[in-house]
Amino acid sequence: MHDFVLRLQNGFCGFGLVLGFGVVNEEANDVEESSKPSDNKYNMQGFEVLVFHKTLFLSNKYRTMTGIKAKDTLAIATYIVLPNDTNTLTNLMGGQLLNWMDIIGAVCAGRFCKRVVVTASVSNVSFQQPIQLGNVVTLEAKVSRSFTKSCEVFIEVYKESQLTGIKIKCNEAMYTFVALNEKGETVAMPELIPESELEQARFDAALRRKQLSLILAGRMQPDEAKELKALFDIKK
Ligand SMILES: CC(C)(COP(=O)(O)OP(=O)(O)OC[C@H]1O[C@@H](n2cnc3c(N)ncnc32)[C@H](O)[C@@H]1OP(=O)(O)O)[C@@H](O)C(=O)NCCC(=O)NCCS
Repeated sequence: MHDFVLRLQNGFCGFGLVLGFGVVNEEANDVEESSKPSDNKYNMQGFEVLVFHKTLFLSNKYRTMTGIKAKDTLAIATYIVLPNDTNTLTNLMGGQLLNWMDIIGAVCAGRFCKRVVVTASVSNVSFQQPIQLGNVVTLEAKVSRSFTKSCEVFIEVYKESQLTGIKIKCNEAMYTFVALNEKGETVAMPELIPESELEQARFDAALRRKQLSLILAGRMQPDEAKELKALFDIKK
């Protein structure tokens, strides 16, 4: 029990983000209560918590499937580029940046759907500028659109020189995440509500990126991708 309490305390920071959206919607109970062993069910700050394989899950009773505003999914991370993160030119390795983007993307998608999420695809990464040793790197991630069981996270990367204080945007990427329940099954995503013009533009474009990603993965026929074809004005 003591071990469990420690685990809860350790996991509480990340989990606290989840509790912020405590709107109750009984209809969102898409996982059977019977699948949860009773000795793995605990109460934390008035919320029911389930523990499976050392991972915390919020009971479905406390989930909401109503819309979530794009701005409420914002996740930010800041790093400093250290020697171990760089290539032989002392610039940040692309793979290191992909890792940081994957982590902040998963935090953002998890904040959105209150689930454990896995990366399904990376649709677009552009490394527009090198990031130098000693730069402060800030990653900002927001969900741009949700589909049935997946959501796209739009990630922007900024580099800042500690010597000049100049901060510029240098990279962006779009990652797709899928939510899993405690049995490892894919589950429905909440709806995303875009508000600003930029959020709406990213919301619209996300559908085309999704279609392209599904075509490349062999999960969709090009003929079915109406919105993507319209972009290229392909008549058929
Ligand atoms: C991602 C994963 C859960 C999908 O499993 P699946 O059995 O194909 O699940 P589903 O058919 O229910 O699809 C789930 C969602 O994933 C989406 N998806 C799957 N592959 C995709 C791709 N390449 N691009 C975009 N979306 C994709 C599907 O379109 C669906 O979303 P939607 O309902 O919103 O359209 C499964 O492939 C997996 O576990 N992959 C490994 C994930 C992982 O370990 N990531 C870390 C990389 S090391």
